[in-house]
Amino acid sequence: MKLTIIGTGYVGLVTGTCFAEAGHHVICVDKDAGKIKLLQAGGMPIYEPGLKELVDVNVAAGRLSFSNSTQEGVEKSDVIFIAVPTPAQMDGSVDLSFIEAVSREIAGAMTSYKIVVDKSTVPVKTGDKVAETIKRYCKAKVEFDVVSNPEFLREGFAVGDFMRPDRVVVGVRSQRPVAAMKEIYAPYNAPIIVTDINSAELIKHAANSFLALKISYINAISVICEASGANVQEVANGMGMDTRIGRKFLDASLGFGGSCFPKDLSAFIQISDQLGYNFGLLKEVQRINAEQMERFVKKIIETLWVLKNKTIGVLGLAFKQNTDDVRMSPAIDLCLRLQKEGAVLRVHDPRAMEKAKSVLKEVVFVDDMNEVAEGCDALVIATEWPEFKRLDLERVRKALTHPILFDGRNLFDVEEMERLGFIYKSIGR
Ligand code: UGA
Repeated sequence: MKLTIIGTGYVGLVTGTCFAEAGHHVICVDKDAGKIKLLQAGGMPIYEPGLKELVDVNVAAGRLSFSNSTQEGVEKSDVIFIAVPTPAQMDGSVDLSFIEAVSREIAGAMTSYKIVVDKSTVPVKTGDKVAETIKRYCKAKVEFDVVSNPEFLREGFAVGDFMRPDRVVVGVRSQRPVAAMKEIYAPYNAPIIVTDINSAELIKHAANSFLALKISYINAISVICEASGANVQEVANGMGMDTRIGRKFLDASLGFGGSCFPKDLSAFIQISDQLGYNFGLLKEVQRINAEQMERFVKKIIETLWVLKNKTIGVLGLAFKQNTDDVRMSPAIDLCLRLQKEGAVLRVHDPRAMEKAKSVLKEVVFVDDMNEVAEGCDALVIATEWPEFKRLDLERVRKALTHPILFDGRNLFDVEEMERLGFIYKSIGR
């Protein structure tokens, strides 16, 4: 099928590329001329494992192209996907101005029947607004359908998640676009849930909030573990083997971050309020998450006492493994808090150092993870990169002024670290 994806960020670029890989003809459109130029020249604006290779193959095969022109994208395709940002506003509500602007642009360019699919995460009832807007601004007065098709991609695993989805959700107002949507997703062999638009939009917010709840739940359990001498990983393993619960998203940490969970939680709380329901449970999820970071910082201060002029090494800046994304990263938050206490930082991330440079000032960026600890009073692990499990621990211990390691991601075995001579402080163990 002929598809256009408007918005070439983490979601749009993966979506467009994976559609092309399945045999569709895809145009990825973005307003950012620099980004489109970079993509046309064979460059990549983001790091996502496996994506560059797929882009190259599909561009070479003539199935994937990039453009600045929404007009061109709309003219040449049957189905237009919206994958633009829906950032949080100061009060936690969602800024839908990009969605509104793109809806107007699509409407202005339509001269025949189109299916307009929203992939961006939006508040329930946004589909109605998109439909109203397109109707109002479509001069040619042609027919169209609006569809909600939320994405469930995890950064760092997005290509795999797209190619092997647990399910595909398609929210519609009429049956007309259903056959096309099923055809688009047929190559992925996933169950397709066809529902109404409001339910589809809610599925996304409800799913992300539930996953965030799972993390806050295990983080709360980690506090009880620390107070009682239990081990949160043992508890998570024991709980997770119950198939009704599942082991995934039960890794205690210094808190969740990223461009999705914090924003979607705030948005969902706001939306619920507007609909007359005080979603106190989700407010507690937010509170536990904020508290988890406070506890971790407190642990560092209690151990090192005064942080002023102490040198601390920080491993990990991205909000999670396998990405260069530092938006709402707990690791960056931690760095800023340590700096506020007067600590001097030596930092490393396998992929996110470039992006971190715009938000972290006056830190030493170290290229080799094994060199971060040189002359440090303590080392902190802030992101769950698997690479960090391969640290040369003997070298790290010798390089540290004092062998103190704070692990915000529980990457190492407690007994083994103590045997190696570390004062090792992790989460809930
Ligand atoms: C999340 C969802 O997992 C995706 O399904 C969804 O499509 C996406 O948001 C979105 O709305 O676009 P993402 O934000 O990329 O994906 O990352 P996750 O893997 O969910 O991790 C989020 C945060 O939770 C990270 O900071 C991670 O370190 C933390 N986390 C995750 C934990 O602290 N413990 C866990 O057990 C799992």
